[in-house]
Amino acid sequence: MNRRDWLQALLLSATLQPWQAGAQTGRHPRLADPPFACGVASGSPSHHGVVLWTRLHVADPLDPRALSVRWELAEDEGFQRVVQRGQTDTQAALGQAVHVELQGLPADRWFHYRFLVGDAVSPVGRTRTLPAPDTLAPRLRLAFASCQRWEHGYYAAWRHAAAQALDLVVFLGDYIYEYASPRGGVAPQATPPIHRVHSLRRAVSLADYRDRYALHKSDPDLQAAHAACPWLLTWDDHEVENDYAGVQGREGASADFLAQRSAAYQAFYENMPLPASVLVQGLQGLNQADALRLYQRHTFGRLARFHVLDDRQYRAVQACRHPSDSSAGTVRPSRCAELRDPGRSLLGPAQEQWLAQGLAQDHSAGGPRWTVLAQQTLFSPRHYGGASAAAQADEPTPTDPWDGYPAARQRLLDTLQATPPRNTVLIGGDIHQNYVCQVQADPTRPDSAVLASEFCGTSISSHSGATLARAQALQQNNPHVLLANPEQRGYALVELNPQRWHTTLMAVDDPGRADSPLRPLARFVVEDGRAGPQRDG
Ligand SMILES: [Fe+2]
Repeated sequence: MNRRDWLQALLLSATLQPWQAGAQTGRHPRLADPPFACGVASGSPSHHGVVLWTRLHVADPLDPRALSVRWELAEDEGFQRVVQRGQTDTQAALGQAVHVELQGLPADRWFHYRFLVGDAVSPVGRTRTLPAPDTLAPRLRLAFASCQRWEHGYYAAWRHAAAQALDLVVFLGDYIYEYASPRGGVAPQATPPIHRVHSLRRAVSLADYRDRYALHKSDPDLQAAHAACPWLLTWDDHEVENDYAGVQGREGASADFLAQRSAAYQAFYENMPLPASVLVQGLQGLNQADALRLYQRHTFGRLARFHVLDDRQYRAVQACRHPSDSSAGTVRPSRCAELRDPGRSLLGPAQEQWLAQGLAQDHSAGGPRWTVLAQQTLFSPRHYGGASAAAQADEPTPTDPWDGYPAARQRLLDTLQATPPRNTVLIGGDIHQNYVCQVQADPTRPDSAVLASEFCGTSISSHSGATLARAQALQQNNPHVLLANPEQRGYALVELNPQRWHTTLMAVDDPGRADSPLRPLARFVVEDGRAGPQRDG
């Protein structure tokens, strides 16, 4: 089967089909109990459709037979007013995942959905279509989050987010972590703290990654957040391996790493509410360049446009990283000319060009009120030793975030200055710390123009090795950094309207408790037409 046939088969399997009561006939794999242990999800919404997702648990994961699954979309939670219903076959080759790509729905509407197999009924999820492209929606309420290492804490942040009447969740990477279970059991006082354990080995194979998603998705608070609203999402490194870069793993580029990456990419697709079109070269092409196209745009009417970026798959390897380095680490710029090589890119040339074109569209008349760059990591620079050029040349610079790709960052800044959207906000994750920054045209000059606002959210649960003292020293050395806090777990709650963008950084009291309260750590506002966050209360 060639790629087109394969994609068509996959799409057909998810296309609307007439309701057939009791159509689950013949021989099929025996279901595990419960079959919907991974919950349900929806994602990639547009103004006329959305992807519904679930994954069936079967008694024998190696059983090659498909399951027939019914699904329903209704206006009401009781499923009295069904809008669409259909039936689809799972694919054993895709881990018994179900992706239903709904189309033809009215804009700006909420729905309920569920799946049915045999006598089993899934939990009910809520989802929505986005406002029509030509309407200026009055408001949008979203959460963004990242980094949910299982051992490091419970998901109280998701429980809280799920109750916030959100329109969207934007997830910015590290949905799973590939590490083996830590030795020694639960140890809340250790560094890093271990609040819960699992029994999985370091993920390498497709079965390993499937197990890892099943582990994370077994968490009821994460399931609740998925069931609450559609998600936009991208990935970072731990969906494959710490600090990987394109086709380079921790032992360089190898056939073994490509096989591992292919398995990880497949498991990611299987477990996320994504359309089949992200598999641009089919399953067979997952070991190729541009294997899984995550960078996408999503338009929430004229209120906001999201440019969801992938800074992992197309990046140049970290500067001055030796093939034997197990992680990216830091370099001193004075000793690593490669750091400033203008040929190095974090997004890759094609995605950089795609983003520049999108920003130019946003800049034009009729562009969105808010342009959102949803990406993985901290964009703004961090200078640890002082603002002088000499100090900066000799300070240890982390090579994995944008600091490790200064020429690529400057190209994006130049684009933002040449074709400025009306309001640009960057959201990020990865570093397990809250940062709020003014994004300036020349980050080495405090008097340079402020082009955008940046909110880098902390982790849902993953530990940060940074200290508050170091973050505060960094804040003093970096006038563009308005807040730096490494000590909290949580998520960011955003409410925007045509006049203002509000970010509330929500912090978990106790990562060791699933029922932990959360409280606001800080609030910032961005005013329409005035780049840069301001403290709000
Ligand atoms: Fe992380």
